[in-house]
Amino acid sequence: MIIGSKIFFFDSLPSTNTYLASLLRKKRLQEGTILRTDYQTAGRGYLENTWESEKGKNLLISIVLYPSFIAISDQFRISMAISLGICDFLSRFTPGCKIKWPNDIYIKDDKIAGMLIENVLSGNKIEFTIAGIGLNINQEEFSDNIPNPVSLRLLTEEIYDLETCLNLLAEDLDVRYKQLIAGNEAEIENEYKEKLYRFNKWFRFNDKDGIFSGKIVNVEDDGRLVIEISDGNYNKYSFKDVEFIP
Ligand code: BTN
Repeated sequence: MIIGSKIFFFDSLPSTNTYLASLLRKKRLQEGTILRTDYQTAGRGYLENTWESEKGKNLLISIVLYPSFIAISDQFRISMAISLGICDFLSRFTPGCKIKWPNDIYIKDDKIAGMLIENVLSGNKIEFTIAGIGLNINQEEFSDNIPNPVSLRLLTEEIYDLETCLNLLAEDLDVRYKQLIAGNEAEIENEYKEKLYRFNKWFRFNDKDGIFSGKIVNVEDDGRLVIEISDGNYNKYSFKDVEFIP
């Protein structure tokens, strides 16, 4: 196994992603090493957001990868593989896992996990990837400023052992990462699209020109979202440039 070959646990950290980055500045860690904490004092989310998680209730992890076999222009494939691994794990317990581009994992219309995938580049290669995952497992109450949170506990009314969950998650992520290494990108891309939230149906979005009706038709390997608009044209969006309207 690559992912989960080593697991280090900390009671509390500012952020597993930030701490892993600081370790990697000093020395190389074995690929697949996972840092896990019970509590983050400065948990980081997508787009400068924070990530809140009640102490000891959820999985808060960061994984180091060295995907030098992936071209920089294809780097979103790493995110695709990680998203699918999280869905594989969740599907062991509950149906309806969807991937909301670019970084959220949903069960139906509620967010159960977020990813913060940071690729550090050197020349024309990915030097390393820090894949941060926050996965809501046992938390039952969330603060009001989190729009639509859910956890495995809320969905299934069971209480989960976090260590067992991490071992299963690591297994599922490992299978997907090995699929990437083997060059099975078509399989990954097809399954990613099958699980994509609001794929291939008309919904409303918001971009710099305002609200419009569109249909997600693809996610490119560099991560851009392709949306068909009503005049038959296609718009391509980078991460910050388009918003889903609920
Ligand atoms: C998002 O949905 O905005 C992404 C959230 C990512 C949160 C995880 S928790 C573990 C890791 N460490 C961090 O500081 N962030 C990620």
